[in-house]
Parts: sequence; structure tokens; C-alpha cells
Amino acid sequence: MAGTIENREFRRACARFATGITIATVTAADGAPHGFTANSFTSVSVEPPIVLICIDHKANVITHFNAANAFAINVLATSQDQLSNRFAERGQDRFDGVEWSAGDNGAPILRGAIAHFECTIESRIPAGDHTILLGRVTAAGYVENGQPLVYFASRYHRLGTGL
Ligand SMILES: Cc1cc2nc3c(=O)[nH]c(=O)nc-3n(C[C@H](O)[C@H](O)[C@H](O)COP(=O)(O)O)c2cc1C
Repeated sequence: MAGTIENREFRRACARFATGITIATVTAADGAPHGFTANSFTSVSVEPPIVLICIDHKANVITHFNAANAFAINVLATSQDQLSNRFAERGQDRFDGVEWSAGDNGAPILRGAIAHFECTIESRIPAGDHTILLGRVTAAGYVENGQPLVYFASRYHRLGTGL
């Protein structure tokens, strides 16, 4: 199929960029929490504070992010690899048994995350098969010595010792 090799090479090259892992969350109009695993998180601007995530147009959860005017980003700890899997898989209640509390904007803040950002939606930019969701950060918090869950070459890792 035309383009298949290039697509694979593109994905493999992208996978050489190590990232942390986040779970982006929203609360729907009926009060139900929704969220998905995202490693596309990036900080964009300091003044004003703006971050972004990219959402696949095929993701069911995009409906809730399109309807919301606020969301939260939860940065996962090393021990939260199962949570990352759960929020990337379909067919289960992702929040079942998960401890969370609503942030000021109502979006779920997950217990155990090493940092979180509460955001109001600044803009949505269509980009190919994803939408870039820009969020103005209205509140943030972090754990001083939190250790991150790292994603590299399509696998989870923990941080090694510093250089
Ligand atoms: C490590 C990891 C990182 C991911 N990052 C993203 C991302 O940045 N954007 C995205 O749209 N999907 C990402 N996904 C896939 C989504 O989590 C997944 O497609 C989504 O949860 C689909 O569920 P839904 O269709 O029920 O909403 C990632 C998955 C994993 C395992």
C-alpha cells in the first residue's frame, strides 16, 4: 500500500523521542468523568501559561473534549503504568476504582499523579488527523520528588540516574 513504509518509519522515528505520560480529563455536562492517555503534552507559553495536547479524531473521547470548556492534565508517576494502559484501552469504565477529585474547573485530578494542570480551553486547531487542544493553565500542582512514568520506543521506562 502506498505510504505504508513511510508511515511506519515516521512512527518509529517519533518513538525515539522520550516523553512522560499524561492522562487528560474532562467532566461531561451530565457530570461523568472522561479521560484518555496522552503523551503529546507540551508546555507552550509561560506568560500567559499555555499547554497543549493532541487528540486523534478517531478517539471517542474527543466528543467530550469538544463539548467542554475546561480540562485537566495529569502527569503520571512511574507506578502508574497500569493506569496509562487502562486510559488507552476501550471497553471498560476507566474511572472505576480510580481515586480522583474535581479540580476548580471540575475536571478530574487523579490521585498519585506527580503534577497536574487545570486548563480552560484557549483554542482548538485542526492538524491532519488530530486536533491540537490549547489550554490556558488556571491552576497547577506537583509532588516535589515525584518520579515520572517515561515512554520511549513504545515501552514504559523509569528514569535512570542523571548524567
Ligand atoms: C503511551 C500512550 C500515549 C498516547 N498518546 C495519545 C495522544 O497524545 N493523543 C491521542 O489522541 N491518543 C493518544 N493515545 C491513544 C489514546 O489513549 C487512545 O486512542 C484513546 O484512549 C482511545 O480511547 P477512546 O476512543 O475510547 O476515547 C496514547 C496511548 C498511549 C498508550
